[in-house]
Order: sequence, then structure tokens, then C-alpha cells
Amino acid sequence: MELHLASMENVSCWAFRKLVRGPTDTYTGALSLNFILRKREWKEADLFPIQGQRQWMQIASSREAECKKFIERLLREKKENPEKYNVHGVQLNISCPSRNVTGIGQGAALIKRKNKVASMVNELLKQDEFKVSVKMRLGLNEHEVKQGRIFALLDELKKIDNPNFSLIVVHFKHARDFSYTPYDYSLLPKINEYNIPLIINGGINNYEDFQRIVRDIPDKKNILGFMMGRAALKNPDCFIKIGKILGKSDFPARTQEEIGKEFEDNCKIHLPKAVYIQKIQKYCPWAKGIRIEFPEGEKITAGHQSELYISQAMM
Ligand SMILES: Cc1cc2nc3c(=O)[nH]c(=O)nc-3n(C[C@H](O)[C@H](O)[C@H](O)COP(=O)(O)O)c2cc1C
Repeated sequence: MELHLASMENVSCWAFRKLVRGPTDTYTGALSLNFILRKREWKEADLFPIQGQRQWMQIASSREAECKKFIERLLREKKENPEKYNVHGVQLNISCPSRNVTGIGQGAALIKRKNKVASMVNELLKQDEFKVSVKMRLGLNEHEVKQGRIFALLDELKKIDNPNFSLIVVHFKHARDFSYTPYDYSLLPKINEYNIPLIINGGINNYEDFQRIVRDIPDKKNILGFMMGRAALKNPDCFIKIGKILGKSDFPARTQEEIGKEFEDNCKIHLPKAVYIQKIQKYCPWAKGIRIEFPEGEKITAGHQSELYISQAMM
């Protein structure tokens, strides 16, 4: 059973990912290729080793040429600085609901463009060092869900015959659902019929939630595991109990103070950009009292130029 810590833009820095105990797989936030390739923001890629975690870089793009450039750059950077690039895989984000992103044909706007997505995935697969995966929603909007666009996409992805194409993550909402709209798992049985390893995401806070979602699926062989995001913001120990139930890992639980202190220590090792601290303080109750020293001159800015997940619908 795989336990994935969700990609969270301006939150999922190395210091945060390391803080969360027990996930098998973790992700950077979505990195806009347009931004990180052109504007020398590459340094945000902080894939230093974390024991027990396979680390993924998540990317947002709608161009094969950018995907090609990205892979070339990643291979080059990794060769020059292997310590910084413990990259297990690259995940293409076709789930971001922000209108700024879908408006330029990226994120959830790509769900209906099955050939484009397959072609980008194939571009990312033209190397042998990294796994490749795709994170998607059920569709851009209700209409696309009714049209079954996700199935047309899965039909296309199913044709990719490459062992490095390792999984899909499905966030069980469409991109125009609100954060309070309930998750819709009614398409899960059909998605599960595709022979593509699947990570289930959306509204899962513990192992019982996951069990409830998969209860009526007779053959679960394609279900690799599940992903949690907001549960980990609230409590970075949220995977511990699950690891214990599964007999995979056993970590002692920490107090909020211990969690905050450990995060401060992680930041002393690899300091994220200031905006990460700002967002973590905003979303995480254990981070309210933390104190992080920044080099003189570095400001905590209100926004982030490449910010993709600025919409409330992101959850
Ligand atoms: C603060 C925040 C930032 C997010 N940023 C990203 C992102 O960069 N890439 C992504 O694929 N999803 C992003 N998401 C969505 C999560 O990965 C996840 O799909 C969503 O929160 C549903 O899972 P949950 O119910 O376990 O939180 C973000 C969510 C939050 C709360």
C-alpha cells in the first residue's frame, strides 16, 4: 500500500516533506515550467534525500518542447549535483483548477486533450532515470464529467507501453467544484477497471476514510494506495497511525510544539523561500509560533509570481 503526501504549492518544500512522517511518496508543489525554466527559479527544486520517501517533482505545462527542456535540465542538474536531486519521478499536473492556469490551457484544461497529454507524457518518458505520472481530476467541469472525458484520456494513457509510466493520481472532483462540494467517488469502479495503477485523492483524513471509499470494489488490484493533503497540513503525523495499521512503519507521535521545533530545525538545514513559511503559518496550526531566520534582505512577500493554486477551488 502506497501512502502519498499531496503536492501543495508554496507548502511542499523539503522542510515540510521531511516533517511529515510515514508517507511512501511525496511531491513538490506544482512548478510552472514556463516559470522555472525561463526565470531562473530552478533553485526551488529541493529534492535533498529524505529517508523512506520517494520524491516527485510536480510540473505544470502544456508544451512538449518545455517537457523536453525540463528533462534535459533535470538530468544535467542531477549530474552536477546528485545530492540535491533525489528525484524518483516527475508528475504532470492536469488537475489545477485555477482559472489563471486553465485559461492558458494548462492544469485541468488538459483533461479533454488526451492526445496532447499522452504526447507530453511520452516526451517525459524519453529518459530512463525517472518515473512519470499524471495527476488529474474527473474533468474541467460537470459537462466534461458527464461526457466521460476522463475515460477518453485513460483510453489514451493505457496505450503507453513503458514501465516508467507508473501511476495516475485522481482527485475525485471536477475543477469547477467548490471546496465544500462533496467528493464524488461514483466513477471509481470504472476508473479502477483500467489497468493503470491508481492513487485515490480527495477528502481522505485517515485509513477508515480510504477503506470506506474502496469497500465496494471487488478487485482492488489497480489501487496502489491513497493521497492526503489537508490532513497533513493540520497534523504532519496523520500518516503514522496508518503506517502502524498496515505494519509498514511505527513512529512516535509528536506534540504540536515538537512538530514546530522540528520544522524550524529542518529549515536550518534547507531554508525554503519565504513564501513557503508564510503559507505554512497560514494553513498549519502547529506553525503559528515558529521563528525562522532569513538572510538579510529576503522578504516574506504576499504572493509568489508563479503561483498556480490561488483559487479557493483548489481543494
Ligand atoms: C495549499 C494547497 C496547495 C495545493 N497545491 C497543489 C499543487 O501544487 N499541485 C496539486 O496537484 N495539487 C495541489 N493542491 C491540491 C492537493 O494536492 C489535493 O489534491 C487536494 O488538497 C485534495 O486532497 P485532500 O482532500 O487530501 O487535501 C493543493 C491543495 C492545497 C490545500
